[in-house]
Amino acid sequence: MSMIIKHEKLNKWVREAADLCRPDEVYWCDGSKEEYDRLMARSVRSGSAIVIDKRPNSFLFRSDPSDVARVEARTYISTPKQIDAGPTNNWLDPDELKSTMKELYAGCMKGRTLYVIPFSMGPIGSPIAKIGIEITDSPYVVCNMHTMTRVGTKVLDVLGEDGEFIPCLHSIGAPLEEGQEDVPWPCAPMEKKYISHFPDENLIWSYGSGYGGNALLGKKCLALRIASAMARREGWMAEHMLILRLTSPGGRQYHIAAAFPSACGKTNLAMLQPTIEGWKCETIGDDIAWMKIGPDGRLYAINPEAGFFGVAPGTSYESNPMAMDTLHENIIFTNCALKDDGDIWWEGMDGEPPAHAIDWKGRDWSPDSKEPAAHPNARFTAPASQCPVICRDWEKPEGVPIDIFIFGGRRAGVVPLVNEAYSWDHGVFLGATASSETTAANIGDIGNLRRDPFAMKPFCGYNMGDYFHHWLEMGDKLGEKAPRIFYVNWFRKSAQGKFLWPGFGENSRVLKWMCERIDGHAGARETAIGLLPDDGGLDLAGLNVAAEKMEELLRVDMGAWKAEIASIEEHFAQFGDRLPERMRQQLEELKNRLG
Ligand code: GTP
Ligand code: SPV
Ligand code: MN
Repeated sequence: MSMIIKHEKLNKWVREAADLCRPDEVYWCDGSKEEYDRLMARSVRSGSAIVIDKRPNSFLFRSDPSDVARVEARTYISTPKQIDAGPTNNWLDPDELKSTMKELYAGCMKGRTLYVIPFSMGPIGSPIAKIGIEITDSPYVVCNMHTMTRVGTKVLDVLGEDGEFIPCLHSIGAPLEEGQEDVPWPCAPMEKKYISHFPDENLIWSYGSGYGGNALLGKKCLALRIASAMARREGWMAEHMLILRLTSPGGRQYHIAAAFPSACGKTNLAMLQPTIEGWKCETIGDDIAWMKIGPDGRLYAINPEAGFFGVAPGTSYESNPMAMDTLHENIIFTNCALKDDGDIWWEGMDGEPPAHAIDWKGRDWSPDSKEPAAHPNARFTAPASQCPVICRDWEKPEGVPIDIFIFGGRRAGVVPLVNEAYSWDHGVFLGATASSETTAANIGDIGNLRRDPFAMKPFCGYNMGDYFHHWLEMGDKLGEKAPRIFYVNWFRKSAQGKFLWPGFGENSRVLKWMCERIDGHAGARETAIGLLPDDGGLDLAGLNVAAEKMEELLRVDMGAWKAEIASIEEHFAQFGDRLPERMRQQLEELKNRLG
């Protein structure tokens, strides 16, 4: 497509990328439906995509078996000094990394098209929004970006001749030689994958993977890693948080932002269907929150994304009906199974598993098969606007005022269902020490317990010690108007290895307690780790959970918590003098309370 671009810096960058990557052609995306349809039709013809007849305008992609999730081990924060990336990030010297990657990029788009995707994170033109330009050689990425961000010529209009943009260079790293036949999901081997960030330059270079956060560069790369570094410099926050609005039977609105690690329940909580009478939940975002202090001194949050890139397995009418009802049309499914009736399927969907399906690797599958039919990190890409409970204010440029922050993780033991922080500093301590068992959202160990501060371990674009400091500073600025902080664990298990808490819609009971706490209507008991619901504090009416289970869910196991201290000390030690003194003090106070 021919387009007159008046932005000299943008033109120059695209020209340079094309000179380096040597694509057969350069195409500027306009974000239109016609463009989406054309690219999808081409993907179907080439064998990359399968039409899902049962769901209008929906397609299934199967990735290469090696390219199924984010790759934290190949993700870099490249600052001139290693200390500024901090102990929780992989670091390489920017000059070295750039020269390594330039070699990889040289000629990497041969036989392919270079797509230029102008996109906005946040409503186009909103004062909080940021513009990115992704260059990619993957039509799959273009189509996903259409749904996940706001793509198109309007973005270029806002950019004008000299507007600021974040350059995001992506290649799947699979050039095609003359006459070479393509594969359905081209990508580079693990040792050639690099997901690189240069936060000092607001620059992203990604090579070798076509999957999710590795390739849809507006999401984790821009909206979290680069944005978190910008937010620190500019005094705002970029967080791995869902945003929801909860309305009480009396009509009072509460806005909640919650940070759980990848595949630990954000999408599900964001679309929660409360099981308690009269309460209503509406979705604003399911993965990322950008927050700024508003003119009234409160903290306002926007969802910078336009779609959901959600975990498919486990999603059902039972667990998350609002997600299921979002998925009727216009969906990209990745690594889901295909049923004989032409519809998609995954483990945990309602009803009996199909007697036969094609698994995510394209093989015959039956319930007797040893491996799951859908990959555990299979995903759906869905427009947020299709969610039946999307909040009417979800695109409000100024965002919604946050009342409650929730941190959490996936812990089979020790961590109770809910507790409340004693203070902002204590809340920051709860975030800073958050821990969770790893999931299939990253390629690596699964079920491995690790510290995942603020659910940002894989996403913080600078030294995590400085990030704790930034949280403390934001609290100081917000003062009395700061959101109250809570910590939850939906995943505590019995000795038999079964979840003790039913979760999903029943989580509304926990949220209700939080709302009553901030209104001063609910009591709490002081424990060593924080404030827990006192007897009768949680509304359990109509809930069928045995008293012993509730007791276990709300038990503070002093011995187990004392044992956590050593691991918290070790965690804090890695930050050296970048650990704020106020965090050390919180640890001392915890020790004292534990006795
Ligand atoms: P990312 O998109 O990777 O950031 O994940 P997420 O935090 O949005 O997680 P998601 O809501 O997709 O949930 C991941 C998995 O946890 C799914 O298989 C869910 O079914 C399951 N899950 C979510 N909420 C609950 C809960 O309250 N209880 C239990 N037992 N499982 C849950
Ligand atoms: C996550 O891993 O937290 C995700 C999925 O939300 S991805 O976009 O692949 O990062
Ligand atoms: Mn996520």
